[in-house]
Amino acid sequence: MAAEKVYRASTTAPVNIAVVKYWGKRDPKLNLPTNSSLSVTLSQADLRTLTTASCSASYSAAEGDSLILNGEPSDVAGARTQACFRELRTRRAALEAADPSLPKLSTMPVHLVSENNFPTAAGLASSAAGFAALVRAIANLYELPASPSELSKIARQGSGSACRSLFGGYVAWRMGSEADGSDSLADQVAEAAHWPDMRALVLVVSAAKKGVSSTSGMQQTVATSGLFQERISKVVPQNMDLMEKAIKERDFPAFAEVTMRDSNSFHATCADTYPPIFYMNDVSKAAIRAVEAINAAAGRTVAAYTFDAGPNAVIYYLEKDTEAVVGTIHNVLGDIDGWKPAAIEGLKSTVSLDEGV
Ligand code: DP6
Repeated sequence: MAAEKVYRASTTAPVNIAVVKYWGKRDPKLNLPTNSSLSVTLSQADLRTLTTASCSASYSAAEGDSLILNGEPSDVAGARTQACFRELRTRRAALEAADPSLPKLSTMPVHLVSENNFPTAAGLASSAAGFAALVRAIANLYELPASPSELSKIARQGSGSACRSLFGGYVAWRMGSEADGSDSLADQVAEAAHWPDMRALVLVVSAAKKGVSSTSGMQQTVATSGLFQERISKVVPQNMDLMEKAIKERDFPAFAEVTMRDSNSFHATCADTYPPIFYMNDVSKAAIRAVEAINAAAGRTVAAYTFDAGPNAVIYYLEKDTEAVVGTIHNVLGDIDGWKPAAIEGLKSTVSLDEGV
């Protein structure tokens, strides 16, 4: 008997770092957010997930789908991963029903092998790159004729921020209003080439796993924070408008102010959660002061900090200000007693922006 064929597809997906943050779900099952968000896609040369998807009739049906993440077997039974598999299989099954000559890949177990080139779950949006790569790899395997926006709706169900990693450059996740999530998807606000001198410095303050996961943290915030209502009804809609304008006009001071204000607003709602959630530590706060000092010394805004659900800082700046920003971060954080090792050891190379998958 001829050996059963193994079908295979590989892809990489980039990390994105939000400058207007997603924080809160209006529907936890479909992963529908309480607000729109906007992110910048970072270079895959520095931060990416590489995923290979394969399927074969020879794979054990009893063992089913599987995932090896960074060399270790990882769970695929979770509701979010299952939702992605289900959506992708349904689309493949529709193609197979329309064209009976196609191999019945939708009925075969899928094996995934995935690898990050950065610390997993350290506040570096690994779930974003991870689910974007998973969805894109299986969509390629199934030869689905789906646009990045269509795939973003599937990736969103794996992890909200993952929907933005289907695009490069500057990406918005529109919250949508439909109950079934059909209009909650990502689109590209501008290509990376629109603002090619934008840079991001990733300051790895700690590569340890974060204390409170995004999923549970944001649910506690939605349930207990009064400030959160102000954020989703007023602060974020305004920040989305200002940010899109700043990007279109390549206005760095405006981009920077909205980025820093939105990060501060998000972390304020975390502090207003009961009991409070603190993602930033003393090194994170020193990075904020360092950025303020850099901007004061330059006499204009040349750097912007932002923090996700962890202590690591991402600092946005323009290529021409590399010396002022990167050099000073080294000096300032290096001069603070006790913080030098973490800050300097963790200082990753600057990363440029990426066109996406
Ligand atoms: C602070 O996308 O990780 O990074 O949808 O529950 O998987 P889930 O959450 P996730 O949350 C990211 C939160 C954030 C802000 C952002 O990326 O917009």
